[in-house]
Amino acid sequence: NTKELSVDHRLTQVCELLMETIPYYDWVGFYFKNGDKEELKLRSFAGEPTDHDIIPFGKGICGQVAISNENFVVPDVKAQNNYIACSIHVKAEIVVPLFVNGENIGQIDIDSHTPDPFSKEDERFLEFVNEKVAEILE
Ligand code: SME
Repeated sequence: NTKELSVDHRLTQVCELLMETIPYYDWVGFYFKNGDKEELKLRSFAGEPTDHDIIPFGKGICGQVAISNENFVVPDVKAQNNYIACSIHVKAEIVVPLFVNGENIGQIDIDSHTPDPFSKEDERFLEFVNEKVAEILE
C-alpha cells in the first residue's frame, strides 16, 4: 500500500543522507524484526547490496542486538567471533536498536571502512535518528 511505500522511501532517504554526509559511514541500513519469525529482515539501505537480507536472532552483530536491546559498537570486526562479514572492506560496525513504544522492533546498522571510527557521539546521534524514524513508523 501507498503508506508502506512512502515509509520505505523515507527510510532509504535517511540511509542515503547519512552515508553521504558522514565520511566514515560506508554502508547504512535498517533491519526490522520479521513478523513472528525469529529473524531480522533488511528493509532499506544505502551502499553496496548485501547477501544478508535475512539474519536469524543471535547471529552476527545485528542478530545479537535483536536480543540484547543494546547498542553494539565494534571498533574492529576481526576481533569478533560472532560476526557476519558483508564486505572485505569493512573494518568497524555500529548497531543501534530502534524502539517503538519501548519495544525493540529493529535497528540501524552502519559499516565503516575506517578502523575504530565510532564514538559516544555516534551512539547519541543514531539514537536520535532512530527516535525520529520511530515517529514515521507509528
Ligand atoms: N555485519 C552484520 C551483518 C549485516 S552487514 O553488516 C550489512 C552482522 O554481523 O550482523
